[in-house]
Amino acid sequence: MREIIAQKVNEYLKKSLSCPSDAAYKKLYDSMNYSVDAGGKRIRPYLCAEFYCMLSGSADFTPAIPYCAAVEMVHTSSLIHDDLPAMDNDVLRRGIPTNHVKFGEATAILAGDTLLLKACGTAASNPYLDGKTNAEACSLIARKSCGMMAGQQIDLISSTFSTKLDELIQLQSLKTGCLLSLSCMLGALAAGKNTEPAEAFGTVYGLLFQITDDLLDSDPDSDTGKTRGKDERDHKATFVTILGREKAEKRADDLLKAAIKTLDSFAESESKHRLKELCRKTRYRKN
Ligand code: IPE
Ligand code: IPE
Ligand code: MG
Ligand code: MG
Ligand code: MG
Repeated sequence: MREIIAQKVNEYLKKSLSCPSDAAYKKLYDSMNYSVDAGGKRIRPYLCAEFYCMLSGSADFTPAIPYCAAVEMVHTSSLIHDDLPAMDNDVLRRGIPTNHVKFGEATAILAGDTLLLKACGTAASNPYLDGKTNAEACSLIARKSCGMMAGQQIDLISSTFSTKLDELIQLQSLKTGCLLSLSCMLGALAAGKNTEPAEAFGTVYGLLFQITDDLLDSDPDSDTGKTRGKDERDHKATFVTILGREKAEKRADDLLKAAIKTLDSFAESESKHRLKELCRKTRYRKN
């Protein structure tokens, strides 16, 4: 299912990000497509499509595809900006040089901005759903993207030396939880269902996802396509730098249990089964 969703979403992304014939747009579109095409696990589109299937009872996730593409655009925008010299100053992403290394800082800023707005445009013009639903999707994208940016803002001023555990949880819920809960909520919205239970799962899953990202940063066996060991070197506040590896592993186990538990509120289905499997895979992921 992961592969089928990724393939359909990649097709939609390609179509939505095709360059206008005017030569003025070329560098900007090359820059956006460079980062989007670099791969990535496509977890957010997967969550959106799987929530749509789980809550609509249909295995055909076509109506959710534009929302899946939109959330991947927001995510890729956040990664391009996260890597900028003014932020994490990273040179490797998805196994290739970061956007600003390849295209220059100014273009990377524009590519991130454009992708974010393209996300709203893509959701607003979802041809499979009505205008009211699409407007609500745009409003959710705006709200959760602002939350993600607030998290990034707190991340910038945080440090291993001064950040307290509750501040760390808040920053991670915002910077990572917002886009993961948005993904689940867009799937629920596309299915015409209440988005709150989807948000509850996405929020806990977001914490599980970010703690495993923190663990992978300090894991010599990880294969993330990113620079390893940066969090400690930059004195970033993460679960590993603040709690140490052992306590972070234990916390990740607790978050896995909590994420699986929040799925109990949904009726039994193959999608629910696969979402539980995703939680387990996330806990033990290497990339
Ligand atoms: C990386 O997200 C940023 C975090 C929130 C930790 P992913 O690990 O999902 O990145 P890609 O999309 O697979 O590159
Ligand atoms: C970034 O967190 C989260 C967002 C991009 C919003 P990190 O800075 O830990 O992500 P990586 O490790 O660079 O992917
Ligand atoms: Mg960061
Ligand atoms: Mg980073
Ligand atoms: Mg990280």
